[in-house]
Amino acid sequence: MTMTELPRHAEHSDGRQATTDDSLRAWVAEIAALTRPDEVVWCDGSMQEADLLTKQLVAEGKLIRLNPEWRPNSFLARTDPADVARVEDRTFICSVEPEDAGPTNNWRDPEAMRTELRAVFAGSMRGRTMYVVPFSMGPLDSPMSRLGVEITDSPYVVVSMGIMTRVGTSVLELIESGVPWVATVHSVGAPLSGDDGAHHDDVAWPSNPTKYIVQFPETREIWSYGSGYGGNALLAKKAFALRIASVMARDEGWLAEHMLLIKVTSPEGRAYHIAAAFPSASGKTNLAMLRPTIPGWTVETIGDDIAWLRQGPDGRLRAINPEAGFFGVAPGTGMDTNLTAVETLWGNTIFTNVALRDDGDVWWEGLTPTPPEHLIDWQGNDWTPDSGRPAAHPNSRFTVSAAQSPSISDDWNNPDGVPIDAILFGGRRATNVPLVVEARDWQHGVFIGATMSSEKTAAAEGVVGELRRDPFAMLPFCGYNMADYWAHWLRVGERLGFHAPAIFQVNWFRKSGDGRFLWPGFGENSRVIEWIIRRLEGAAGAIESPIGRLPITDELTMDGLDISADDLAALFEVNRESWLAESELTAEFFARFDGRVPAALNAELASLRYHLTR
Ligand code: OXD
Ligand code: MN
Repeated sequence: MTMTELPRHAEHSDGRQATTDDSLRAWVAEIAALTRPDEVVWCDGSMQEADLLTKQLVAEGKLIRLNPEWRPNSFLARTDPADVARVEDRTFICSVEPEDAGPTNNWRDPEAMRTELRAVFAGSMRGRTMYVVPFSMGPLDSPMSRLGVEITDSPYVVVSMGIMTRVGTSVLELIESGVPWVATVHSVGAPLSGDDGAHHDDVAWPSNPTKYIVQFPETREIWSYGSGYGGNALLAKKAFALRIASVMARDEGWLAEHMLLIKVTSPEGRAYHIAAAFPSASGKTNLAMLRPTIPGWTVETIGDDIAWLRQGPDGRLRAINPEAGFFGVAPGTGMDTNLTAVETLWGNTIFTNVALRDDGDVWWEGLTPTPPEHLIDWQGNDWTPDSGRPAAHPNSRFTVSAAQSPSISDDWNNPDGVPIDAILFGGRRATNVPLVVEARDWQHGVFIGATMSSEKTAAAEGVVGELRRDPFAMLPFCGYNMADYWAHWLRVGERLGFHAPAIFQVNWFRKSGDGRFLWPGFGENSRVIEWIIRRLEGAAGAIESPIGRLPITDELTMDGLDISADDLAALFEVNRESWLAESELTAEFFARFDGRVPAALNAELASLRYHLTR
């Protein structure tokens, strides 16, 4: 094809001009010239568009329509078995200076990477349709929101983006009025014809063994190649709302965080808002949809994965959920563990890599206590309970609109965000970290966030095994040097002053010496939330310890919970020897940052060691 034979890229198929914005038109034309799609479609995010695309995907055998009696307007996608999760080793931060990516990111020289990307994207959309998806992260009328455009050759991505973000022509209007936007390009890397014009048959889940998830922080660009899955392909989520947004937030004085957001109402009718960071796959959606087991308390959902926080005109830290949907892990989401999520998924849901029931509905491990007698597993094979392998992939997912959740808060769309009263940091710790600890102040809280981690191997109580560090649950998501990110958090705290929310560390996963979980988790976590709120209200006491303020255990509501006095004591034990060993590991971790760790955090570490040895 010559340039003049390229598809029309700035018009709808009926000849209407797609946008009057010159820079957007030029960019779309440039990507079309590079990737050579057969057709360019500008998406409007409408229900008709989603309906047309899902019908087309079903007709092509790329989606299975679920039985509408059980699961109306819902679909099952099965991915290539080699394309089932985020690919962290193929995720690159291409800042001009390597130090600006830091030791926890894969850095590549931006110019070298651009050359590599140009080579793989050249002709990568041949025989396919290129979709242009304008989206907003956050409510359209919010000053905290940011715009983006994703170009993709995956209709599955278009439909998923329509659920996960706010897509539509009103976004284009904002772009046309001059509002800045982030450019994101995605290709599954599976052209249907070669350079020689030879035709390749399509497959149910096109992808490429070579994958790239590339962020250019200085130019605020994202390029993703070779994967059709989740965070690799829905570029609004991890790539934009965390990696690129964290850089924008640093430059503009706000925070882009891997945090859920909830509204908690006490029996007295007082409302509080909590933002909480947990590593991936640590039950964030469960906490976001918590059903308290203690009477009088309610929890409503605002977000389950990402929060953007900024100081409001009243001086307080306010937060929005930039997403519009949940991309949740299915296994472990069950009637007894997260009934609200199960109820959310009644229809209008895309499931990926879960199992298919004989009645045309879906199933995954943990949905019901007893599995059906026969299923088709996530790879399309017959499955029975004695097959000896999971029916659903452990990272199988549901994609559903947040508005469909029965627990969604009225405030979730509030353009001004919600005022944050407390920030929680949680790891998956078998040892050392108590059920809950209150930070002494913001700086100590930042130290707690910076030292978040999980055991790599199950370690015995009192002995710290190898720790996987996951500061602020942002390890795979921080778009710049993690030490600079900590410094940014400290600056934000200084600006907030006495308005700064209180910070707590929580750990639902502490184990006994014989390897039992000491805490039941799920709805019972409301007891911890209650203590946190009572601390905010000044109604609960605390005991100073070298690692922060611990509850007076008698003040915790324990009615109806069968937990022995020994286990309760073990949940809050601070073993000095083991904490000193962990401090050594923290010092080693900080040393990786070549002197860039803020002095305030080194001072926190020194103070911790001092108090542990006193
Ligand atoms: C997610 C993740 O999918 O953190 O939310 O990996
Ligand atoms: Mn996440």
